[in-house]
Amino acid sequence: MLKPKVFVTRRIFPEALDMIAAKTDMELWEDELPPPKDILLEKVKDCQGILSLLTDELDTEFFKTAKHLRVVSQIAVGYDNIDIEEATRRLIPIGHTPHVLNAATADMAFLLMMASSRRLVESQTFVKEGGWKTWHPMHFLGPNVSGATLGIVGMGRIGLEMATRARGFDMEVLYTDPNRRSLEDEQKYNLKYQDLDELLTKSDFISLHVNLTPKTHHLISKREFQLMKPTAVLVNTARGSIVDHAALYNSLKKGDFFAAGIDVTDPEPLQKDDPLLSLDNCIVVPHIASASFSSRLDMSKLAAWNLLAGLNGETLPNCANPGVYELN
Ligand code: GLV
Repeated sequence: MLKPKVFVTRRIFPEALDMIAAKTDMELWEDELPPPKDILLEKVKDCQGILSLLTDELDTEFFKTAKHLRVVSQIAVGYDNIDIEEATRRLIPIGHTPHVLNAATADMAFLLMMASSRRLVESQTFVKEGGWKTWHPMHFLGPNVSGATLGIVGMGRIGLEMATRARGFDMEVLYTDPNRRSLEDEQKYNLKYQDLDELLTKSDFISLHVNLTPKTHHLISKREFQLMKPTAVLVNTARGSIVDHAALYNSLKKGDFFAAGIDVTDPEPLQKDDPLLSLDNCIVVPHIASASFSSRLDMSKLAAWNLLAGLNGETLPNCANPGVYELN
């Protein structure tokens, strides 16, 4: 029997590629950079499946071109690069990789909180540039993480991981989310529900864990920065454009708040001459929150399972648009 044709848009863990290669006629895009749009469209014309990344734009034109597509499997929890309405209309299930990156992502958010408040990158640069002449009681001061108030914007799976870590640091945890958690959860994780403005006003650390949607685009902008404490630290491991980057630069420069640690930017990648990179109080890392060995291995395997399940006509283990099964 003819094996289904699939296009894998970047090299992932060999364990997952082997699983896919055994069951399909697989083409792998070997470059480090994403396939250009015209090549992507050319490649998927005859494919039944695609394993995509968040850097691939799967828009209406993509779905129009990929006429034989039976499944999209994205190796990421987020899928704002995919026209999910168009996919659903065409009854194409979209796989994604939640759960397996929760801990790694929360670890990175915590790392950015601590590194930004205690000025890790700035002080290392100081040492490397020969600035360290003596111990000084007033050098490199920053806010304490222990005992501070953490405001979590978006109390989903990763938000809960943040709340769990915060306990070990004796932090008070405030949160906001359009869907308030149950009283049981609030008690179990010691969470206090607040609206966004209250949370911004009261928190020492603010960590973003919402999906990017038209509603959350620029959720944090000039007005929100001005509500924050001058000693507050903002961390973003969700999506870059949840934060208005022009306002972020201006507010950090003016000192509306203390520092930011961001794993995601707008645009991505951030160019070398971006004004944010000129600031000492902004740490930028290149979208690596889930990049632990085990997390990326598990994401690779989950993406392979989703892809193969879709090709077999089975329900995907993790489907971002389960509505396709009801419409079917
Ligand atoms: C990474 O940003 C992801 O969505 O998995």
